[in-house]
Amino acid sequence: MNRHLVCHNLVKAFGGFRAVNDVSLVVPKDEIRAIIGPNGAGKSTLFNLLTGFFPPTSGRILYKDKDITHEPAYRRVKRGFSRSFQTPKIFPELSVRQNVYLALQAYYSRSFEWNIFKFRSLDLPGKTEDLLRMFDLARHGDQIAGSLSHGDQRILEICMVMALEPAVLLLDEPTSGMSEVETNRTIDLLMKTYEEDPITMVIIEHDMRVVRRISHHITVLHQGALIAEGTYADIEADDTVQKAYFGEVR
Ligand SMILES: Nc1ncnc2c1ncn2[C@@H]1O[C@H](COP(=O)(O)OP(=O)(O)OP(=O)(O)O)[C@@H](O)[C@H]1O
Ligand SMILES: [Mg+2]
Repeated sequence: MNRHLVCHNLVKAFGGFRAVNDVSLVVPKDEIRAIIGPNGAGKSTLFNLLTGFFPPTSGRILYKDKDITHEPAYRRVKRGFSRSFQTPKIFPELSVRQNVYLALQAYYSRSFEWNIFKFRSLDLPGKTEDLLRMFDLARHGDQIAGSLSHGDQRILEICMVMALEPAVLLLDEPTSGMSEVETNRTIDLLMKTYEEDPITMVIIEHDMRVVRRISHHITVLHQGALIAEGTYADIEADDTVQKAYFGEVR
């Protein structure tokens, strides 16, 4: 079986409270996996464990069959892990172009720290323009990032995350706070890049229309525990999920 990213019995306790409670999952290579669940279900905490933001209380994380449970975040970035946050992390006082350029510079200076000649030969301005075009941000290139609409700030963050050429992309509610038009645009852009170059994606998402459109499989968390897993149709038909989740949002 294709086991790109695997969690075994992950637990994260804050004091006596288990924010993530015995979660096991397997995400195959190039799958788009949605993580859903009510507020406080443990979704962002699970991301913090996967990205090495903090260690689990118990359990294991494997990437390509290698145990990375205790690897620090920067080592996982080197392996190709890249994430976006629930609130966008951009440099609001810099231009959109400078934001993308800095993301590329940070990535390539880490990748080629041993080879200054190779680093100098990279066309970072050209790559910046390619990314701006790919994410439909070229016309905003000179604009100060903090003055973009909320939707465009989130798209800029996704663009910066994609500059890292991730092998595993983790997006925490990429469409939260967006209008329907912005949401559709963001998902169109994400799917276009995925179709050109598939990667493993794990997406926390509240909007069930987005979940239905993009995910191959869905994992449902509730009070820290995994309560269901399957296709959209499986999840929609699952009584436990109906009670825990769909009941709330319908
Ligand atoms: N650093 C922390 N210290 C203590 N408790 C925490 C910490 N981080 C998260 N929690 C708690 O763990 C639970 C799960 O939080 P988490 O942010 O993972 O939920 P979530 O599923 O992402 O929710 P939301 O949909 O609101 O973003 C919550 O009750 C939260 O208060
Ligand atoms: Mg969250």
